[in-house]
Amino acid sequence: KKILFVASECSPFVKTGGLADVVGSLPQVLNKNEKTDVRVILPLYQEIIEKWMDQMELVTSVLVPVGWRTQEANIYQLTHNGTHYYFIGNDYYFARRGVYGYYDDGERFVFFCHAVIEALPVLDFKPDILHAHDWQAGLAVAFAKISEPVKNMKTVFTIHNIKYQGIIPRDAFEELFNIPLEHVGGLEWNGLLNCMKSGIFHADKITTVSPTYAEEIKTPYYGEGLHSIFADRQNDLIGIINGIDLDEYNPMTDPHISSNYKYSRIKKKENKEILQERLGLPVDSDKPLYVMITRLVEQKGLHLVQSILDEFLQEDIQFVLLGTGDYEFENYCYHAEERNKGKLVSYLGFDEGLARQIYAASDFFVMPSLFEPCGLSQLIALQYKAVPIVRETGGLKDTVTPFDEVNLTGNGFSFANYNAHELLYALRYSLETYHDPDKWAALIKNVNKSNFSWNESAREYANLYQSLDESLHNA
Ligand code: GLC
Repeated sequence: KKILFVASECSPFVKTGGLADVVGSLPQVLNKNEKTDVRVILPLYQEIIEKWMDQMELVTSVLVPVGWRTQEANIYQLTHNGTHYYFIGNDYYFARRGVYGYYDDGERFVFFCHAVIEALPVLDFKPDILHAHDWQAGLAVAFAKISEPVKNMKTVFTIHNIKYQGIIPRDAFEELFNIPLEHVGGLEWNGLLNCMKSGIFHADKITTVSPTYAEEIKTPYYGEGLHSIFADRQNDLIGIINGIDLDEYNPMTDPHISSNYKYSRIKKKENKEILQERLGLPVDSDKPLYVMITRLVEQKGLHLVQSILDEFLQEDIQFVLLGTGDYEFENYCYHAEERNKGKLVSYLGFDEGLARQIYAASDFFVMPSLFEPCGLSQLIALQYKAVPIVRETGGLKDTVTPFDEVNLTGNGFSFANYNAHELLYALRYSLETYHDPDKWAALIKNVNKSNFSWNESAREYANLYQSLDESLHNA
């Protein structure tokens, strides 16, 4: 089966979040385990030009109509770790610093999707299925349905986060396509062009990154205004949990951590002392260490943390927070550290090496998200034997089972409501468990057994592709 992934991010080329990890690792696993030929097409951003251009080859150029003018798209390709990647090059739209955050992001990704569809007939790769990810790729699904040359191709659309929809004024669309928005069915929502909705509406199958999130987005609370469109797509929407790349996130070989784990030995203490030293915390490997590694945005539950962190820091613990994000939360973190010197370190920056050392050193990983389509950090934490403390939502609910001290089951701690005192209670309970050697040993044993490799989920995607292909041949 030939499948083309369309996305705005993909590790190792460009990454701002979990989307890049998934688009980076899933095709490789599918190609290895499932005998598919999955290729990926991405915009050629400035940072990719700088790091990868010398390994690329120009395949062809296509002209993409943009309103009354045309823009050229140069299609490049390279092979990396056995997977084939294509890039849509256009200096005007993509040769800029960073990935998102420009006034014309809408237009940039409308162009990207249009260029992908224009490129398909001239590539030597003819996909059976186009698999698009998040709003930036939503219109590729819609255009695939209405474009004559590729009409028979099946489509899958994956929602990684329904909060970001790519909502664009109708004028912008009409300027780019010279036709009224309503003339292309399914793109409009509340009078505007909505790229996420377009993808959902036109896709043959819709997936999202955990079973629980697939249920949640059908409700007004999580649906971000789109819940009603799932009502008549019940049978086409499925949740498939993300995996992580276990070679990449392996505490036995990770070059970023100071003291690699040995099969039977988790070197928490060694790694903790090194981290404490590095961050200027009192060095004491017996102190329970709680950490957060996160974008500092509302989604990640920062409002709850704000309400109770000072109180929890009365306990004999240490807390490390690593991340960047909204000014409100960065400011909070900075001042919280000032008030709690010697117990709390807020590292406002992004540093992959430090992040790995923190995973390796920590006893607890705190992730009280308001919503979480899947969440990858709790999976990495489990891999590095840090016990997750999460809110029961989305993928967090599907991957973390609360510790049950009677039956000694569960691999973490959790709470249900978006309420600061429920979080505080879960934190205190985790601390009590830490100080009870028998319970703690049982919990760590369960953590060791948790496994979130891609294998099973890749199989589910393969089955989904297979089912689409059958419907194609029966049509
Ligand atoms: C988004 C979601 C996150 C998910 C990731 C990859 O970043 O917020 O929960 O893990 O996409 O699917």
